[in-house]
Amino acid sequence: MASVAAITRALLSKNVINTGRFAAASNTSLIKFYSTAPEYENIKVDIVGAKKNVGLIQLNRPKALNALCNALFKELGKAVIDFDADEKISAIVITGNEKAFAAGADIKEMQNNNYSSNAKTGFLKEWEDISNCGKPIIAAVNGFALGGGCELAMLCDIIYAGEKAKFGQPEINIGTIPGAGGTQRLPRYVGKSKAMEIVLTGNFIDALEAEKMGLVSRVFPVEKLLEETIKLAERIGTHSPLIVKLAKQSVNQAYETTLKSGLQYEKSIFYGTFATEDRKEGMSAFVEKRPPNFKNN
Ligand code: CAA
Repeated sequence: MASVAAITRALLSKNVINTGRFAAASNTSLIKFYSTAPEYENIKVDIVGAKKNVGLIQLNRPKALNALCNALFKELGKAVIDFDADEKISAIVITGNEKAFAAGADIKEMQNNNYSSNAKTGFLKEWEDISNCGKPIIAAVNGFALGGGCELAMLCDIIYAGEKAKFGQPEINIGTIPGAGGTQRLPRYVGKSKAMEIVLTGNFIDALEAEKMGLVSRVFPVEKLLEETIKLAERIGTHSPLIVKLAKQSVNQAYETTLKSGLQYEKSIFYGTFATEDRKEGMSAFVEKRPPNFKNN
């Protein structure tokens, strides 16, 4: 039987998931196309994993190195919102291709923007759809993750990288600064000195450096990255979706507030889990030496 990764790779290489119908794949028990998926032009959307509980989004503008044009971001936001609302989905994976996760915001598209058009339209506001998602999002980064591409990866909850990935905030080279969190999230990941160096030089860092700095949690051979990322999403999917959501909210508080109020927030969520059926089930299962049967309640 072909592995999930092999089938996923084969499917990702074909632009067939936009057809909104089930695929004629040889093993549809492993991967089923998202039959209700809208027609997307700039992304591919799929449901993967042995239990079909992982939402997979592939950025799909290979000729532009997945530059994040407005249309792509609208589609990405919609796909994330749809997966967030889909009870069958436990976690979401966002990936690109071997050359690029994403090479940043689309420079050609924004070249003629001006201050007032940016302010009036709320340029880049769709990016909040990603950070507002309640379910875990994992970035699987091969190739370039630059500018907005690096910022998109940092909007995700976990970053896994292929060993040839390159991260950077090169906006300084084109006379601007990161505009989707690069100056704010990067220092939280890697500290001020390294963030300053990356933002002020525009230099790229490779996957192993990114792992050493704490930007990336694990690095894999290029061809293993997606498979390993899906495995991680499946592992998260074995837990109570409700408690996973609360845990994500609580970790995110560490980036939003002071230690004191973050600890208070954590305590109130922790106490709150004792009002859930899944907490009762988890502890009962441990005591009774059996696997838990979580109900998302
Ligand atoms: N926007 C639009 N098009 C882009 C792009 C981008 N960010 N990055 C690459 N492309 C396009 C190129 O223009 C080129 O298109 P054509 O074939 O039509 O000329 C195609 O993708 C392939 O790119 P290259 O020929 O440049 O490929 P390369 O392998 O020689 O270089 C690269 C790769 C180093 C990533 C280089 O493309 C590059 O430097 N890209 C720009 C990176 C960047 O500055 N990103 C920040 C954007 S600003 C931003 O993101 C703001 C924000 O915070 C939200």
